[in-house]
Amino acid sequence: MIDIRDKFLKYFQNNEHYIYDSMPLVPDDPTLLFTNAGMVQFKDIFTGKIPPPTNTKAASSQLCIRAGGKHNDLENVGYTARHHTLFEMLGNFSFGDYFKEEAIKYAWDFVIKELGFPKSKIYISIHTSDDEALSIWKKFIDESRIKMLGDKDNFWQMGDIGPCGPCSEIYIDQGNKYFNSNEDYFGGDGDRFLEIWNLVFMQYERDESGNLKPLPKPSIDTGMGLERVVALLEGKRNNFDTSIFMPLINECVNITNKPYNDEFKASHRVIADHIRSIVFLLAQGVNFDKEGRGYVLRRILRRAMRHGYLLGLKEAFLYKLIPAVCDNLSHHYTYLNDKRGAIIEQCRLEEDRFLLTIESGMDIFQKEFVRSSSVFSGEVAFKLYDTYGFPLDLTQDMLKDKNIQVDLKTFNACMQQQKERAKRAWKGSGDDIKSGDFSSLLEEFGENKFIGYDNDKSKSKILALLDINYKRVDRLDGDGYVFLDSTPFYAEGGGPVGDSGEIFINNKKVASVIYTKKYFGLNISEVSTNTPLKVGNVIDAVVDKNRVEIAKHHSATHLLHSSLRKILGSHISQAGSLVESNRLRFDITHPKQITKDELDLIELEVNKMILSQLPIKIEFLPLDKAKSRGAMALFGEKYGDIVRVISFGDVSCELCGGIHISNTAFIGNFYITKESGISSGVRRIEAVCGKAGYEYTRDNLHLNYSLKETLKTQDILSGVQKLKDSIQKLKDLKSKTDEGNGLKSLNFEIIGDIKLLIAETSPLVNIKTTIDEVKKDNQKVAILLITNDNGKINIGAGVKGISSLKADNWIKKVCEIIGGGGGGRDDFATAGGKYADKVEDSLKLAREYALSFIKET
Ligand code: ALA
Repeated sequence: MIDIRDKFLKYFQNNEHYIYDSMPLVPDDPTLLFTNAGMVQFKDIFTGKIPPPTNTKAASSQLCIRAGGKHNDLENVGYTARHHTLFEMLGNFSFGDYFKEEAIKYAWDFVIKELGFPKSKIYISIHTSDDEALSIWKKFIDESRIKMLGDKDNFWQMGDIGPCGPCSEIYIDQGNKYFNSNEDYFGGDGDRFLEIWNLVFMQYERDESGNLKPLPKPSIDTGMGLERVVALLEGKRNNFDTSIFMPLINECVNITNKPYNDEFKASHRVIADHIRSIVFLLAQGVNFDKEGRGYVLRRILRRAMRHGYLLGLKEAFLYKLIPAVCDNLSHHYTYLNDKRGAIIEQCRLEEDRFLLTIESGMDIFQKEFVRSSSVFSGEVAFKLYDTYGFPLDLTQDMLKDKNIQVDLKTFNACMQQQKERAKRAWKGSGDDIKSGDFSSLLEEFGENKFIGYDNDKSKSKILALLDINYKRVDRLDGDGYVFLDSTPFYAEGGGPVGDSGEIFINNKKVASVIYTKKYFGLNISEVSTNTPLKVGNVIDAVVDKNRVEIAKHHSATHLLHSSLRKILGSHISQAGSLVESNRLRFDITHPKQITKDELDLIELEVNKMILSQLPIKIEFLPLDKAKSRGAMALFGEKYGDIVRVISFGDVSCELCGGIHISNTAFIGNFYITKESGISSGVRRIEAVCGKAGYEYTRDNLHLNYSLKETLKTQDILSGVQKLKDSIQKLKDLKSKTDEGNGLKSLNFEIIGDIKLLIAETSPLVNIKTTIDEVKKDNQKVAILLITNDNGKINIGAGVKGISSLKADNWIKKVCEIIGGGGGGRDDFATAGGKYADKVEDSLKLAREYALSFIKET
């Protein structure tokens, strides 16, 4: 395969563009589900929110996902030649540098000279209003091959809000040999004229109410789909037939044994497409989830599994395709190499999860399906969703060919009812927050200042007060919220919990601060007053002393993170964090249980860092600089951000906005208290340090003392071992007694009306008692029992109702062989024997002897 990605980046690098890495698929932007275009990492530069970099020309090859949100291609994947959930977008950008003239020239030269497309095959579309673009294009191409189209085709925007502008698209004519439908004219819906490159002339920003306002500087944003360019250059009429997807499809054919033919090709294509999204989302730290981005990932996987099901697979299989994806792409996205094992494991676990319900779900679907003519029951679709884990779009996908629609009205009503139920079950659902007076605070004051990094108290002014319904009040008596001009209270975020504390006026405590959180960027503390607070009051804000313990757990979290990477490998990524004053919890992606030995090593590493007394270093750096230092960033920060970097010696370096202690020595100690799995491929570590660590060890020591006392030994382990041994002995004893009690079930020999029993029994059997019992139950009986307790031989003999046989003689006869001696009466006698190896012979002799007397009777 010609490396088009490389060619593109080199071309723009040679034209003085700075080359950027692909930004994370999950953008730090709540209005966007996934990064869906190359410009997303530059959007704040376009809008002027952050200043442009020194080099105002840029280029990148950006991974994009269009599976949800404004640009959603999910349902078309597999059924068209060009739609993908994940694709790579090649793009060049100008931040107020060049505009239409140069952008068009760069694109023309690249398409003609570098990619080698003949001029005669090129067609152009532009926005109806864009006469400027028209006159530039006319310098390169005949006007008859330029079409002016409306907003639908030639106006591009990132999302409902954000930068946007008219655009111009470059098309390649694939000829009429294969493309000759009525729609295959330029501007028609056929596939003959294939759009390869979109040049957006960024001129506006759309706000929440839909209004367009001009950008500070007109800019350029372009996007060319790598997969379709490769298809054209490889002479394929479908992206899936290219060297990008065929290795995956071939692997899928191997696994399923189903050919890539008309019958099965749509399923092979869906699978080959979806596995790429699965790999990149997992590699970038998105986990399967019930909502949000994690749910999109789950939907993608389940949709792919359903196509595996159509190809006859009823077992996990997607994970087997992951090596092929990594082999194909890891030379450029090198992090795939590190993550490969973990991704495979996560994928397999999630597949197993769906396999538990897929079959029953399919049955339910099938039953309803045969009953449906044009509408599929919304209730059943909801049941499939709610109970069997079938996302709605999966059910819709299964109905796609048959032209049956899900009754969405009922489905949504069921969903609504469920939400209402959940809402009732969960007080404080958040709706009251949405209707709170926060926007008026934002408008009037903007974000307030956090001054708590270096202070645990401050003199501050109350700018506003909110009641418990988040409505502004001038005076607060009781519970509510306080908004200070500058505040020492840390607002919950990034793991650490928010601060609590106290508020004083003239040295008199007037309120307790319960908790501090961010509401729409505003740092607000929940309070409970003793004396009413008024807007305008100047107060002394004092942070609770426990904050230092939160800081210790926070710094320990950083050390833990670094130690986890060292011991388990760099594939791990943070999947959640909670930091409190008396514990920390850290979730990571890791495919299997962390062993006891690994946990010991991880704990040891952290303690070594504590003992090394590493001072903290706090720096504010541009993101790329921080990354080049090796700072661990979550996939979330974007270019241009000035980030706060926290380092301890050279062992830990992370982007972080929280509060820390100034030297690792202050953490004091660190103990891992628990390791567990919380979802597929995600492990949770719980630990304590500082004061909580001291309490943890103290409690354990006390337990230790009590154990020594109870066991009456200094050596707990051997004491416990002794206990265990005794328990084992008792258990053995019990089983032997059970065996002994089985004596009665032994077969007596019956001779006429006499019963005879001669046997070796368990040493646990009490010979005398047993003989007595046997005698009690029978009229005429002779019984001789031998026990062997590790060489100690005991013999007992009893006779009842048989006058010719004397127990005393009988036992003495036996002693002739077994050694030792003893005796007794005619009806009962005992003896101790000597030769354990003679037990069998003795039993034989005892029988012969007894029989000779019994027969004589
Ligand atoms: N941002 C433009 C697009 O995605 C280039 O098509």
